[in-house]
Amino acid sequence: MAEFLLFSVLLIMAIAVFTCVILSIIGIYFMISSCFMSYPPPVPSSGLLKEKALQDICDYLQNKKGLTIMDLGSGWGTMLLPLAKRFPQHSFIGIEHAFFPYMVSKLRARKLPNLHLKRSDIFKTDIAGADVIYCFLMQKLMNDLTPHLKQNMRSGARLYSCRFYCPDWKPAATVSLGSEYDTYYLYIKD
Ligand SMILES: C[S@@+](CC[C@H](N)C(=O)[O-])C[C@H]1O[C@@H](n2cnc3c(N)ncnc32)[C@H](O)[C@@H]1O
Repeated sequence: MAEFLLFSVLLIMAIAVFTCVILSIIGIYFMISSCFMSYPPPVPSSGLLKEKALQDICDYLQNKKGLTIMDLGSGWGTMLLPLAKRFPQHSFIGIEHAFFPYMVSKLRARKLPNLHLKRSDIFKTDIAGADVIYCFLMQKLMNDLTPHLKQNMRSGARLYSCRFYCPDWKPAATVSLGSEYDTYYLYIKD
């Protein structure tokens, strides 16, 4: 009995240590990628702003056929998964360069034939085929990405940028739930 108890305690301690090590590695990985490489961490869209953006994108996609929707920096697939499930008639593409979020999103998307996830750099992505683009990045990245978006988005394509604006581009709509941080910007390419 005492041996069994000792074994159980040791097993629980080993699992706790293993979990701490794994979480530390993931935490350090996110810190390095966000601090030193100026990438945003893979924080998913969340809260009321996410719900509002998701609802507005759904309203746009409703009753349309065969559109291509891209999430530039698709993270864990938080935005694309519900959209791809709800709209099998549209095609969804996620671009993500970070290994962990990409792998997790691939796993989550395995039963959705209309959702394609690519491990790639958004700056090198051909966006000319997208009818709708969603971004939740950070201000510096939006500053750098805006010329690529303005130059290569097709005419009439829509960009929903969550929380961060495109400099020198007048939004077609600014949807705010209060603070500037709780705002998304809709741009429509001329
Ligand atoms: C704040 S998260 C948003 C994730 C997802 N779009 C969502 O709304 O839940 C931003 C994501 O962009 C990715 N990312 C940042 N720079 C990138 C780049 N140059 N190429 C591809 N992905 C990038 C990050 O790894 C991160 O997962």
